[in-house]
Amino acid sequence: MHRRKFIQNLLLSAGAFSLFPLANLEAQRPSFCGAEHFPYQLPPLKYGLVNFEPFLDFLSLEVHYYQIHKNYARQLNEVLEHLGLQDLSIEQILKSRVLEGKIAEYAVLKNAAGGYYNHCMFWDTITPFSNPVPSRWRDIISLHFGSWDLFEQQFFERAHNWVGSGWIWLVKQSTGNLIITCTHDEDNPLMPFVPEQGIPVLGIDLWEHSYYSHFLDQRNKYITVIWNYIDWQNVLSRYGQVFSYT
Ligand SMILES: [Fe+2]
Repeated sequence: MHRRKFIQNLLLSAGAFSLFPLANLEAQRPSFCGAEHFPYQLPPLKYGLVNFEPFLDFLSLEVHYYQIHKNYARQLNEVLEHLGLQDLSIEQILKSRVLEGKIAEYAVLKNAAGGYYNHCMFWDTITPFSNPVPSRWRDIISLHFGSWDLFEQQFFERAHNWVGSGWIWLVKQSTGNLIITCTHDEDNPLMPFVPEQGIPVLGIDLWEHSYYSHFLDQRNKYITVIWNYIDWQNVLSRYGQVFSYT
């Protein structure tokens, strides 16, 4: 079998929708990505990057969005075109177990698809504007973590203890549980081979490129600052969308 056709068949037969029915996913998918199908683009931002000054520096955010994220979108489009997989949705790609393989194209696809999706969620998770925690969200968090303070404590501990490039997530698992988890590099909890899987409702970038130029090696300071920029209303909305299709 031709190599490209072999890869296509592997991806398409890999149980990409093992968690959710296709119809529900298509109808309820959170729309934070710039595009849900090829060609992928940068998501439009609901704010100016300069509005995070002086606590997050504009230059780092600009590079993060216009260079790093844009590169992931470009790489994703290129590898999908190369493999002839333009018809797959971003979720189909991320949920495919074949990304776990050692074949070079899969590694490129995994990194590009994860990088594209993760950063879309990141920009949608933060806001420079007023972002009070909705009381309903406090109640939901208290139900899962005991209290808001315990949730914060667990989130910060997990983020502070993380070593290397990666992401920290709040994830709704198929059991209904909300958990805090981390993934390496550009992996994310949709991928069926990460240790703790589920649908992310919040994602914070822990790569050095997120904070180093402003905070140097003080990643804990960055985490404290970014925590104050989380758009809890958006997180609650995403949780509601996730809830409706699980
Ligand atoms: Fe990043």
